[in-house]
Amino acid sequence: MQIDALSVPGHETVLRVADAASGLTGFIALHSTARGPAAGGLRMRRYADEGAALADVLALSRGMTLKTAAADLPLGGGKAVIMGDPARKTEAQLRAMGRAIETLGGRYWTAEDMGMSPADMAILRQETEFVAGLPDGPFASGDPSPRTARGVFYAMRVAAERALGSRVLTGQRVALQGLGHVGWHLAKLVRAAGADLVVADADPARAAQAAQTFGAEVVAPDDILSVSADILAPCAIGGVLTPEAARTLDVAVVCGAANNQLASDAAGDALHARGILYVPDYVANGGGIVNVAAEILRIPDRAHFVTEKLAALEAMTGRILARAAAEDVGPHRVADRIVSARLPLEGAAA
Ligand code: NAI
Repeated sequence: MQIDALSVPGHETVLRVADAASGLTGFIALHSTARGPAAGGLRMRRYADEGAALADVLALSRGMTLKTAAADLPLGGGKAVIMGDPARKTEAQLRAMGRAIETLGGRYWTAEDMGMSPADMAILRQETEFVAGLPDGPFASGDPSPRTARGVFYAMRVAAERALGSRVLTGQRVALQGLGHVGWHLAKLVRAAGADLVVADADPARAAQAAQTFGAEVVAPDDILSVSADILAPCAIGGVLTPEAARTLDVAVVCGAANNQLASDAAGDALHARGILYVPDYVANGGGIVNVAAEILRIPDRAHFVTEKLAALEAMTGRILARAAAEDVGPHRVADRIVSARLPLEGAAA
């Protein structure tokens, strides 16, 4: 296995990991360990090329620094990616990535992200102790997705109260992009709260299942950003809120689980200019890292810990949206400012 350190300004450590024997190519990025060990999931995805994979891991690891700080966890931000189709992943590839993570000696803790499962984490665990989201064991936290969805749901209600006049979602129309681990749980919560769903997934079978289970209206993946709805919940990929999307969206609120939803800060400004309330993704989707953190930090009463942290994130969402309204700026700007102040280095420089 070959591990090469790359020098990337703004990131503490970036490793390119290649293992010819298993056909693994991947990256590990530690954005910041200023608040504690860098934490963030391992993603497997078919990237166009290494440049795309590197760009993803850099943006995601930076997002994890903001996310762990927003949740006030004693952790920093990191992320790892494996290039390739998750349906074709092998145990040898996972083990090679596990060995690479182990070389960091605990400066980085991984967990599952897109394309990974708790069972995959159990394989990594054979090579490194620095893995959370395990299916079993003394502090095992399993799949974080239900907690992520719950946090998004809470944030959605806060935003609905501000933008739609009520935190009760009954009768509201929620457009949901992506019915994966988080999206499916979120669909359940939103439907149970009485909202109507319009959904899209790249996998037509998944969308059809949502139609059957939740009575959801199904649209093609290309159309979900142009449907007329009260709330849009991006729960698939990042970068969906482009300046163009910001000009054309027909919703009052954007609140979802996907990481790095804003293609740029300018897109966030454009949403604000149109009166569309955007809940900063790393505040809305912090439930997952909170759940994982309970395992990393070996918290005895995980349920209580997660409940308290989700309540704190909900309160923070309220503060961010209130301050954004008072200052007439996009909530993404306010969130970045509040959270940066919790980061020793960035806060000092600001
Ligand atoms: P997943 O891989 O289980 O689900 C993603 C779903 O989106 C799949 O059903 C896929 O077919 C669909 N999809 C992909 N591209 C699409 C497109 N262009 N249009 C419509 N559907 C599309 O992933 P998971 O775990 O549900 O995560 C969703 C998002 O939330 C990701 O961005 C992830 O990084 C983020 N997130 C997940 C957390 C978790 O606890 N799983 C925690 C925090 C963030």
